[in-house]
Amino acid sequence: MRIGLVGGTGREGRGLAQRWARAGHAIAVGSRQAERGRACAAELGVSGGDNASAVAGAEVVVVCVPYTAHAETFAQLAGQLSGQVVIDITVPLRPPRVREVHLPAGQAAVLEAQELLGPDVKLVAALHHVSSAHLSELDASIDCDVLVCSDHDRARQITIGLIADLGLRGLDAGPLRNAIALESLTPVLLYLNRRYKSSGAGLRITGLPDALD
Ligand SMILES: NC(=O)c1ccc[n+]([C@@H]2O[C@H](COP(=O)([O-])OP(=O)(O)OC[C@H]3O[C@@H](n4cnc5c(N)ncnc54)[C@H](OP(=O)(O)O)[C@@H]3O)[C@@H](O)[C@H]2O)c1
Repeated sequence: MRIGLVGGTGREGRGLAQRWARAGHAIAVGSRQAERGRACAAELGVSGGDNASAVAGAEVVVVCVPYTAHAETFAQLAGQLSGQVVIDITVPLRPPRVREVHLPAGQAAVLEAQELLGPDVKLVAALHHVSSAHLSELDASIDCDVLVCSDHDRARQITIGLIADLGLRGLDAGPLRNAIALESLTPVLLYLNRRYKSSGAGLRITGLPDALD
């Protein structure tokens, strides 16, 4: 699958790019600066350029930018995203208080994206609880489930498949609106990291059928 990573030069984007490339996907790393995207791509052994070029031709777009850049990034790419499957991993953190839940005006970053882009864009919320520190250890298995929210069944299924290709279990966690809970849980995990001196607290859902393991 052709995957375009907007902001793919960052901590989370790099790990996703490497793991998906290893699983056989064609990755385009995007950046605000084409040269930075190309340099990162060369380092990771994938292709890259500016964000618009990463989105062009992608079957799935993954947006990996800080919340401060979220609205601006979507506004810039809106014209290219019509009908597209877009996985938004954004957590609306409010530095420096990143260990406290902050509900943005639209209640979740991904709901704000949907409002901005309109119903034509098939948004999926996922990967909020997978630490970049773990993703970048390419040969290590990651002890974390990935909860996936979307209003589009096919987009959700595609995402769950891509999550399996990262070596993780993706679970259907309901409509996009449920992402309010997903995004809100990340500051709690960041709090746990500090409280218990961990580098990447994760999330594991118990009590589900064994077939999902
Ligand atoms: N890090 C994690 O462990 C983790 C885990 C789960 C979810 N998340 C979420 O995933 C998203 C990305 O996290 P990250 O840690 O990868 O972030 P990051 O490394 O700080 O930034 C990712 C990329 O976003 C672009 N960017 C940074 N500031 C920007 C701005 N003001 N305007 C436009 N683009 C900007 C940069 O790309 P260019 O300079 O190349 O344009 C940067 O490489 C965040 O929303 C975060 O909450 C992170």
